[in-house]
Amino acid sequence: MRILFIGDIVGKSGRRVLKETLQKIIDEDKIDFVIANVENLSGGFGVTLNKFEEILSYGVDAATSGNHIWDNKEYEKVFEKYPDKIIRPLNYPSGVPGKGSSIFEINSNKIIVINIQGRTFMEPIDCPFKAIDDEIKKYNDIIIKIVDFHAEATSEKRAMLHFLSGRVSTLIGTHTHVQTADEEILETGTSYITDAGMTGSFDSVIGMEKNAVISHFLTKLPFRFKVANDDLRFNSVVLEINEKDGKTLNIKRKNLNLKKEGVAYGQKAY
Ligand SMILES: [Fe+2]
Ligand SMILES: [Fe+2]
Repeated sequence: MRILFIGDIVGKSGRRVLKETLQKIIDEDKIDFVIANVENLSGGFGVTLNKFEEILSYGVDAATSGNHIWDNKEYEKVFEKYPDKIIRPLNYPSGVPGKGSSIFEINSNKIIVINIQGRTFMEPIDCPFKAIDDEIKKYNDIIIKIVDFHAEATSEKRAMLHFLSGRVSTLIGTHTHVQTADEEILETGTSYITDAGMTGSFDSVIGMEKNAVISHFLTKLPFRFKVANDDLRFNSVVLEINEKDGKTLNIKRKNLNLKKEGVAYGQKAY
């Protein structure tokens, strides 16, 4: 099974990248299932119903998220209309809306997509290690397990990789918006990348217009951040997973720069 995982889509710029490229990538790479992180989908902050439906129309099958999912109250409408397609981090305290995992059936193979969130340099929510341990045990019968670990610290992500080694198909990091070049497959068949990156404007500070972010760092006063528009790029990871045992056969970064023609892999895209 071939799965495309798209790094955090940031605002209108990110959605435009998807519109221009996603169907072509699905066709060329024979993708069976598309997962995207949508925490920054609408104006960089959270998700609204019409923007969510827009990216579904481009070919996204499932969405993970993170700390920014709560920025726009309209998440309620998305959770209500698409409860099986949108996933928020599992380890928020009980009673928080939405769900932390969802099961999909692709070509008669079941997969579970789970979203967890780190606690290092982030909100001190429930323990992601304990939460995912319980979730994996609960869904032991599902062979293919995809995990989006939305976290800031590389150490927390690496610790989670070794905690989950041999128990999940892949652990994909999100949240930093900067793609790392450390993709690997452990001997147990669990694949990993510290961060899948960002889909949106790269002439920016992680997707937002530069000047307001610089002013914020200079003064520590609040500034209104707006989505940047230039140098549009697509960051993702393509996974090939063995349906029989859930192990990753191949993990590859797939990146596209809209300024250039065609699709290239990894560093060659830039
Ligand atoms: Fe993000
Ligand atoms: Fe985030």
